[in-house]
Amino acid sequence: MNILAIESSCDDTSVAYLSGSFKEPIIIHAQKTASQIDVHKAFGGVVPEVAGRKHAEAITPLIEEILKDKKKPDYIAITSGPGLMTGLMVGIEAAKTLSYSLDISLLHINHLEGHIHSAFLPTQEVTKPALNTLQFPALSLLVSGGHTEIILMKSFGEYERLGKTLDDAAGEAFDKVGKMVKLEYPGGPKVSKLALEGDAKAINFPRPMMTHDSLDFSFSGLKTAVLYYLQDNPDYNINDVCASAQQAIIDVLVAKVKKAIKLYNPKSLILGGGVSANDLLRTSLQNISDDITFYIPEKSYSMDNAAMIGAAAIHHAEKEQTIDWRDLQANPNWKIDKA
Ligand code: KG4
Ligand code: ZN
Repeated sequence: MNILAIESSCDDTSVAYLSGSFKEPIIIHAQKTASQIDVHKAFGGVVPEVAGRKHAEAITPLIEEILKDKKKPDYIAITSGPGLMTGLMVGIEAAKTLSYSLDISLLHINHLEGHIHSAFLPTQEVTKPALNTLQFPALSLLVSGGHTEIILMKSFGEYERLGKTLDDAAGEAFDKVGKMVKLEYPGGPKVSKLALEGDAKAINFPRPMMTHDSLDFSFSGLKTAVLYYLQDNPDYNINDVCASAQQAIIDVLVAKVKKAIKLYNPKSLILGGGVSANDLLRTSLQNISDDITFYIPEKSYSMDNAAMIGAAAIHHAEKEQTIDWRDLQANPNWKIDKA
């Protein structure tokens, strides 16, 4: 099947055309993404009103470019939540218009389900297995700017949220540390780069809830600890602050994954979300268990992209879980384990 996929839930407008089925590896024929990072940098974070306007400017030219020279797709896959209302609405209206005018079936996709499927997206250099090779139960760690969740996947489409952040997301914690040491938004990639030159043991930042029984997370205490450290040490070594804060965040993530593995004995582990680009996290999870197959997105698909939405749409398409354009609505707080 051929799928046109659209993603506009945060600060990237992304459109992709891909083909695949459950049994065959996915092929991405085209993908274009318009990033808004340069616009939001000036504000130190994503401004919803500005994001909506930028999505509206970018989306139609992107769709035109991606669809040029392509066959009419069998499905349109659109992110309908969770995310910013202003962004979701732009993508949804574009998808509805195409569905109505070209008579193409619509599939509405949860953004986090997209991140889970990003591990199955190939690049020019790297091939990936077909979706039906995934063994269940699969455990997924989703770490992005807006979410930190541990999800148990019993099959495609059957999710149970085992843990979530009670305050800041892991990516948000990286971004806040970056902001405090005066790095540009988003701070995550820059913090992890400076961390390479720093000593991760230099400062003993707290690991909130690490030994707590639950699989929930909390990162706001770490942010406060970094703030106080910087106030007390005006001549701080930025590399050491970045390395020590990164280590604290990754230690908590890895400890919770280990706990979840012990409790649920999964056959597979899937990493997803923007923070999956973090090298320390990638290597820390790589060898977590010999009995578990580890699925990880190529770094180019760690961040928000439309291809992952198309990949997540494949099992919904095979189950014919389409939605009439009249019924499609944005759902900014859509939880992955709720319909
Ligand atoms: O999934 P994503 O593109 O957007 C959301 O859905 O939030 O994730 C973006 C987040 C940002 O917080 C960014 O700082 C973080 O992912 N991030 C990283 C790295 N690359 C991106 N955090 C830590 N280390 C990285 N290398
Ligand atoms: Zn995301």
